[in-house]
Amino acid sequence: MKVIWASDYQEVSKRTADYIKAQILMKPNCVLGLATGSSPIGTYQNLVSAYQNGEVDFSKVTSVNLDEYFGLDGEHDQSYRYFMNHHLFDHVNIAKENTFVPSGITEDIEQETQRYEQLIRDLGGVDLQLLGIGHNGHIGFNEPCNEFVPQTHVVDLGESTIQANARFFGSVENVPKKAITMGIGTIMSAKKIILIASGQDKKEIIHRSIYGAVTPDVPASILQLHPDVTVIAAVD
Ligand code: GLP
Repeated sequence: MKVIWASDYQEVSKRTADYIKAQILMKPNCVLGLATGSSPIGTYQNLVSAYQNGEVDFSKVTSVNLDEYFGLDGEHDQSYRYFMNHHLFDHVNIAKENTFVPSGITEDIEQETQRYEQLIRDLGGVDLQLLGIGHNGHIGFNEPCNEFVPQTHVVDLGESTIQANARFFGSVENVPKKAITMGIGTIMSAKKIILIASGQDKKEIIHRSIYGAVTPDVPASILQLHPDVTVIAAVD
């Protein structure tokens, strides 16, 4: 695990975007695993600027997102599909049909989880997976629990996650209580992983994740066992 202590959010965003640009340069038809939340917004802004300056070409890139709220369709302004369109896809030359986010409004949610897992396999797996981290150590929406869940699955969101996301929904009651997320095994299958975090409120969980015991109680701690993880954090 390589750890880069950045000085602030801007540096986290710039360095992360540089890794993603390098990935696309090395393999123009790469599969990017993308994340939502406030952490990657600056990274996406840097990527949009790089595209506008002619530094990066997304035309052959495919993307798969980590997760989606259950019950929200892609038009809902708090859905992760909407987030990705708004922050990245609408502003670069990625082909929309090559951008994948789990469907939050599927009739058969179990079938959707299997479809998504198979889709990632059919794409040949993820070359570079970007991750944020929740205050309880969740990655994607893999919440602390008794065991690591390997594949894409449905989760009941934890209380702290619901509370943390209430700011986007106006109130706690409006936050969806379930989500579809890549599993820990899905995430660990990525060839390279970048975990980003900013803010003093993430300091403790970043330290527990990278220096503490590997336990499903801190889902991000599993990353210690992956052969190619870079943590880029500004938490002081
Ligand atoms: C959500 C997302 C995670 C993200 C986390 C942290 O729960 N499902 O993928 O890492 O929020 O978000 P933030 O970066 O806003 O702290």
